[in-house]
Amino acid sequence: MLHISAVVGARPNFMKMAPLLAEVRQRANVTARLIHTGQHYSPEMSATFFDELGMPTPDVNLEVGSGSQTGQTAGVMLRLEPEFLEHRPDVVLVVGDVNSTVAAALVAAKLEIPVAHVEAGLRSFDRRMPEEINRLVTDALSDYLFASEPAGVANLRAEGAAPEKVFLVGNVMIDTLIRCRARAAQTEVVERLGLRTGGYAVVTLHRPSNVDDPANLEGLMRMLAELAGRIPVVFPMHPRTRERLGSFLVPPGLLLTPPLGYLEFLRLTSEARMVLTDSGGLQEETTILKVPCLTLRENTERPITIEQGTNRLVGVKPEIILAAALKTLDHPPAARQDPDLWDGQASGRILDILEAACRKRTS
Ligand code: UD1
Repeated sequence: MLHISAVVGARPNFMKMAPLLAEVRQRANVTARLIHTGQHYSPEMSATFFDELGMPTPDVNLEVGSGSQTGQTAGVMLRLEPEFLEHRPDVVLVVGDVNSTVAAALVAAKLEIPVAHVEAGLRSFDRRMPEEINRLVTDALSDYLFASEPAGVANLRAEGAAPEKVFLVGNVMIDTLIRCRARAAQTEVVERLGLRTGGYAVVTLHRPSNVDDPANLEGLMRMLAELAGRIPVVFPMHPRTRERLGSFLVPPGLLLTPPLGYLEFLRLTSEARMVLTDSGGLQEETTILKVPCLTLRENTERPITIEQGTNRLVGVKPEIILAAALKTLDHPPAARQDPDLWDGQASGRILDILEAACRKRTS
């Protein structure tokens, strides 16, 4: 038997872990204990996703909540140690690059429990991003490094990871997208918001570098309002961004909504004319959906979305972003190619590898 402890904490973890847990349920010789750190706790940032993605109720919720980078990471570590000590899993499974990911990897490694990291090897080479630190540390401590794209493999090799630990398996988040597309199409979010298929832009922004400085954020909001003069702009707003906006008067023309559930958001982005974002995952999802994506950052850890997908880096200067958005409206880029192994089967490949390693250990 293979006993996995699967750790999730924040919104982008849920759609990555869901297909892995579904795969575990198909296998007679694998069990998973699901641990929610509680990094995200609002219903619209957490519970909604569990329901929509068919994830089991977590076996335990550590209820760590919000805090500073260190406070949150240390809080998860302190609460995870007794959990791992009591249950002694064969492997701790972590996904992505949030604070809960690195906290779980640190605790497991110190207890000599093997760590499997899904979405390993991605690098923005920008250590001002908290996620970059999380990625570097998690990968350095992991025994199984599951990469979603070739750049991930190359980065890990360049950092000296043993080749036998590194596996190119594809993208588990795309497993979820493919599984949920038909159900997403049945939601009515486009009609509810009074939009027309192909006739609106979707915006998401939540990175500290874009939203934490009020002057910066206000500049971006004014730019979006100008864009809204050309095409309706919908902005489902992350709680962090909402908080930073404070009493700033949102310019007319922008359609602000609370964070949406997975299915509604998938329908909204699938039928958008264009997406403007600083999210990592959305760069990948738009690549598969063939929707033009402008990334409001100076760098990306997901280069395949530019090389083969619909993604373009446009930086963080409002006038340059606006010019790029208007150009995309007038001359939409041609649809491109799906990255290799982003085929809906990544979770199966990962479980095959973990099960084979378990059989080898016990034989
Ligand atoms: C975290 C991840 C980021 C990921 C993002 C997706 C880290 C370092 N960052 O950033 O990589 O892209 O999640 O959402 O792990 N809040 C709520 N309700 C919640 C959660 C948060 O209101 O359920 C508010 C709180 O005011 C909190 C703020 O959002 O202080 C930020 O939350 P936090 O988990 O610290 O980081 P995110 O910006 O969500």
